[in-house]
Order: sequence, then structure tokens, then C-alpha cells
Amino acid sequence: MGKAIAIFNQKGGVGKTTTNINLAACLALKGKRVLVLDVDPQGNTTSGLGISKKDLANTSYDLLIDSEMRTRDTILPTSVKGLDIIPASVDLAGAEIELVQIQGREKRLQKALEEVRGDYDYIFIDCPPSLGLLTINALTAVDSVLIPIQCEFYALEGVSQLVSTVELVRKSLNPGLVIQGVILSMFDGRTNLSIQVVNEVKKFFGDKLYSTVIPRNVRLAEAPSYGLPITSYDPRSKGAKAYMAFADEFLSSEERHGR
Ligand SMILES: Nc1ncnc2c1ncn2[C@@H]1O[C@H](COP(=O)(O)OP(=O)(O)O)[C@@H](O)[C@H]1O
Ligand SMILES: [Mg+2]
Repeated sequence: MGKAIAIFNQKGGVGKTTTNINLAACLALKGKRVLVLDVDPQGNTTSGLGISKKDLANTSYDLLIDSEMRTRDTILPTSVKGLDIIPASVDLAGAEIELVQIQGREKRLQKALEEVRGDYDYIFIDCPPSLGLLTINALTAVDSVLIPIQCEFYALEGVSQLVSTVELVRKSLNPGLVIQGVILSMFDGRTNLSIQVVNEVKKFFGDKLYSTVIPRNVRLAEAPSYGLPITSYDPRSKGAKAYMAFADEFLSSEERHGR
């Protein structure tokens, strides 16, 4: 059975989507079968993997709203072998409100993922930067949460709210939910600030913090406009090397925990 992981931080712009696309691509390159599920109405994972948001037949919106929708009918291949996607459409912005009327509204994605878990080693969900029903659906559907934190002055702001959200979902909807790990992004080794942030996050999360840090690298910011993960856009860039190293650390920590 595949493991499902939500990439979650209710702050925007911290590197969720960049981590989702590039960790998923690196794991696929290492031979894993990977699915990414985009439930952010902005659809940046969708466009970042080269899928045009216009004229999509079926999307994550349909999985959330239409109980007849088969999960396999929403899955598309990407340009990376072994990496599939369930894309997001702009309709998702309305789903938050439409879901309020629906029975079992927190468990729609959980049900949808059960249908395809056996087909993948890892399923990553890219969450929107909010704590609404889309995020609750994601946190209810997964086994664990991967938290990207940006190396900035306010890095830890909102982190206790983030952790209490995870705890709330664990208590009420998803008893098995754990924190997979914390990955620092947009690290700039030339600044004391970045180094200070690493120390603070380490103090807060202890050994949940991965030792790989993702540097600030302009190639990572350029790649999505070509619809490519960094490993296709510029495999020799610092960004590509960092995400490859992260994928290695991610997998060895999975092995240590018996997977
Ligand atoms: N390591 C990085 N180096 C440079 N730019 C980055 C890096 N990570 C993310 N970005 C850029 O920062 C912005 C926010 O990142 P994104 O992954 O979209 O965050 P989120 O999904 O949390 O909102 C995007 O424009 C992205 O291209
Ligand atoms: Mg995003």
C-alpha cells in the first residue's frame, strides 16, 4: 500500500509546491511510483508539471464534489516516468463552500485515495495556504505531514497553529496522522538569519528536521514556467542536487522506520 503525505503549511510562499513537484520527481527518478494530488485552487503543482489548467476533463474538484467520480479517471501522466498527477482546476476555489453541504465532507479525499493507494509507493498532496475544508480533507486522507519552512525572519510564526491543526485532525478525524518531517527551504548560507532560523527550527522540531536544506536557487523558481521539475529543467543546478539529496534522506529515514 502506498503512503500518502500532505505537504502542509498554512503560510503561502514557503516552498510547498516547489517541494511537492521536485521531491516527487526525484523519487520517481529513483524508481518509485509517485502520484501528486493538487488541491490548491492556484493549481501551481498542475501548471508546474506542464499540465494546462484549461480543458481538463476531470480534476481534484470532481473527486471532492462528485461521489460517482472514479479516482483513476482523474489521473494524468506527466513528462517524468513514474510520476502521475491529479490536477487542480480553478473550480476548486468554490469547493470549499460547496463541500459544506456534503455528507462526510472531511473524508472525500480519503475515500478517493483508497481506490489507488495500491498503485503507488508515494502519494503527495499539495495543500492550499489555508486551514479550510480542502486542507482538512488532505490531512484526513494522509498518513503523515511534510512541513516546508522558509528561512526567513518570521519562520516560526504560525508554526504552533500548524502543529495544533495537525493534532486536532489526529484527535477528531485521522488517529494515525504523524509529522513526517520538516524541510527548510530558501536557505541562504551567506546570511546569519538563515543560520539562526535553522537553529530555531531545530530547537522546535528536534530530529523531525531533515539535515538537508534547500538553498535559494533561481533555477528552482524558473523551472515551473517551463512546466518541468528541476531535474528535467536543469539537473546540474544547486536546486536539483539539493532535492536529490533530500529524496535520498527522505528514503533512508523511511527505511529506518521500517518501510
Ligand atoms: N529554493 C528556492 N529558491 C528560489 N526560489 C524558490 C525556492 N523555493 C520556492 N521558490 C519560489 O518561491 C515562490 C513560492 O514557492 P512555492 O513553492 O510556490 O510556495 P507555496 O507553495 O508554499 O506557496 C515561488 O515563486 C517559487 O518558485
Ligand atoms: Mg503552493
